Formats: sequence, C-alpha cells, structure tokens
Amino acid sequence: MELSRRLRSLPPYHFAAYSRKIAELRASGRDIINLSIGDPDLPTPPEVLDALTESAREPVNQRYPEYEGMAALREAFAAWFARRFGVELDPRREMSVLIGSKEGLAHLPMAVMDEGDVALMPNPAYPVYPTAVALAGGTVYELPLCEEGGWLPELEAVPADTLARAKTLWLNYPNNPTGAAAPMAFFERAVAFARRHDLLLIHDMAYAEVRFDGARPRSILEVPGAKDVAVEFHSFSKAYNMAGARLGMMVGNAQTCEGLTRLKSNLDTGIFRPLQIAGIRALALPEEWVAERNAIYQRRRDVMLAALRAAGMRVATPEAGLYLWPRIPAGETAADFALRLLDETSVAVTPGTNFGSAGEGYLRVTLTAPDARIAEAAERLRR
Ligand SMILES: Cc1ncc(COP(=O)(O)O)c(C=O)c1O
Repeated sequence: MELSRRLRSLPPYHFAAYSRKIAELRASGRDIINLSIGDPDLPTPPEVLDALTESAREPVNQRYPEYEGMAALREAFAAWFARRFGVELDPRREMSVLIGSKEGLAHLPMAVMDEGDVALMPNPAYPVYPTAVALAGGTVYELPLCEEGGWLPELEAVPADTLARAKTLWLNYPNNPTGAAAPMAFFERAVAFARRHDLLLIHDMAYAEVRFDGARPRSILEVPGAKDVAVEFHSFSKAYNMAGARLGMMVGNAQTCEGLTRLKSNLDTGIFRPLQIAGIRALALPEEWVAERNAIYQRRRDVMLAALRAAGMRVATPEAGLYLWPRIPAGETAADFALRLLDETSVAVTPGTNFGSAGEGYLRVTLTAPDARIAEAAERLRR
C-alpha cells in the first residue's frame, strides 16, 4: 500500500522531525536547550485549571459537545474582543470555535478555495499556511518579506494575471517568525486591496497577547468595514499558556465563519466542553495577569537580545510575540549555522529557511524556556 500522492507531496512537518532529533540527542546524554518551538513553558493559571477539572465532573459535559462551540464561550469571546479592540462581533454568526488556531488555519482553505485558486502568502510564514492551501488544491503565490520593507509585503507588486486568479491573502502580525508588527496604515491598505481584488483576507493574530514595553497590537478588524473581507485567528495557546488545551477562534466575516463551521461539522465534533469552560475563565483573567506574564517574556527577551548582539548578530527588538530573528554572519546558510550551533553549544534554534526561502540568513530563537535555561543559553552563545 502506498500513501496518497497528496500526502507524499507534503514536506515533513519540520518541528516534528526536529523534536525527534532533539529527543535522540537528549537520550545520548546531551543537555539540549530547546529554543526552536514557541511552546509556552509557563503554567496554565490555576483558576483556569480549576474550571476545567470541576466542569469535567459534570456528566452533561462528558457528552458530545456542540459543533459550533458553546454559546457561553462565544459570548465571552465577543465581550473580550470588544474590551480589547473596541470591535463588536456577533457571537452567533461572526465566530468559528477551533481546536487550536492551527486546526482552523489548516481547514479554512478547504472551505474557501477551489482547485487552482491562488493564495497570496508571505515568505517567510508559518508553514501550516502553504501546506493547507496545497491540500485544498490551491496554488501559492509568494509575497517576499524583507528587513528593509519592515517585513510587510508589497501588495501592489502582485501581477494582474495572478490577482485575477487569487482568492485569499494571508497576513500574520505580530509576525512569526520575524517578530515584526504591522502599523494600522498597512492594515487599512490590505483591507482596501482585498476589497478591490475580491480576496478573503486571512489575518493570523495568534500572538496578540504576548506584548512588551506597553505595546498593544491591534486587530485588522478595527479597520472600518474589514468584516466584509477579512477573518482573524486568535489562539488561547500563547495568550493564556494553554497550548496543550487546544482552543482557538476565527472571527470576522460571517459567511466565512459559517462556511468553516459547516466544514468542521463534517470532520470533527467540537471541543470537550470543560476546555471551553476553561477558556471562558481565561478570558476573564485580569489585565495584570497578562502584564505579569509578559514581564517574564520581556525579561527573557532582553537577556537573549544582549547575548545575540554580544555574539555579533544583528537583531531587532520585537514589541510582541515569542521570537527573536537574528541575522547570522554572511558565509554560511541558516541551516548549517543552526546545526553548528546545536553541535557546539547544544542550543537548538530554527533556521529561518524553515519558514520559506526569504528566511535565509536568519535564525528564529524562541523565549519559551525557563529563565535559568534562557540565561544558560545566552551564556553558551556568548562563549
Ligand atoms: C503564527 C502562528 N499561528 C498559529 C499557530 C497555532 O497555534 P495554536 O494552534 O496553538 O492556536 C502558531 C503556533 O505556533 C503560530 O506560530
């Protein structure tokens, strides 16, 4: 038996392969510091875990959950969104509850793209986007991002014949992997561009709540009329240290939310209700909880920035997200450099090229290891 052509055409998911390699090195006795995956190490807040465990004992919560998510979760998310961004969402029509935002990103192209449709997509980008488009039979047209351009795509450079076949435009700010933020003026241009060319604008805002120095990343749905053309993804994983729980949201354009929920009702059967109840509790966490958590990441960010700079690498100070994106010295590929770093220092980072060819010359370093391990990694880099 052969696996399907569809599956065989996919690249292996880098992080799965890399995790295996790190596990092997650890098994051989090496003390590896893994800064290669944005997997929050800080604990889920105890009150959120209490909500999860207490509600799990209720027999009603042990049955099949609603396909479209609990009304109470949708309402709580709409209230949070209005508080955070000043944007009103209809909890019934403008929301799709997800088994983590990755799941929704992976299924969305199947709901909105046909064979041969083009997806305009940044390079570098979170690798799930191009894979999801390929599985849906779509084609990717890459929008290269670069440092000089502030890691924003040049939308007007897309050729007219590509635009005629384009169906979706993908954006992600705060950006993984570059750590860049997008100004509101760019969001306004992107929404106008999507409207002009009849595109669905898909904005991934998984890192909305991990922010530093008082920054407050803004939603693309704050652009007046954005809901006509845009959806936005949010994740509980990074916002509330709930990566294991698997809970996310897509919000915005009603037809798209209805379409994704309809597709998902054929593929999955909702989310364990206690996880949704835990999500409701997380949305009620005070602003101080988010600020204190972010102060921890900010401290780590500053330790790592200083070490990378001391090691001779140029690196911008991100205002949000879990990543640093240092430029490596010329003369070596990002993949070779990352491997050498792993060999010589036992610090695992991700070569920029894992997010696309435009990531050549860069590494992605995450902040999701305990302070002492970040300090140890910084020390090893300095040496
Ligand atoms: C840009 C981006 N979007 C979405 C996700 C998926 O997050 P989750 O499925 O945990 O909500 C990630 C995870 O690292 C990410 O980096």
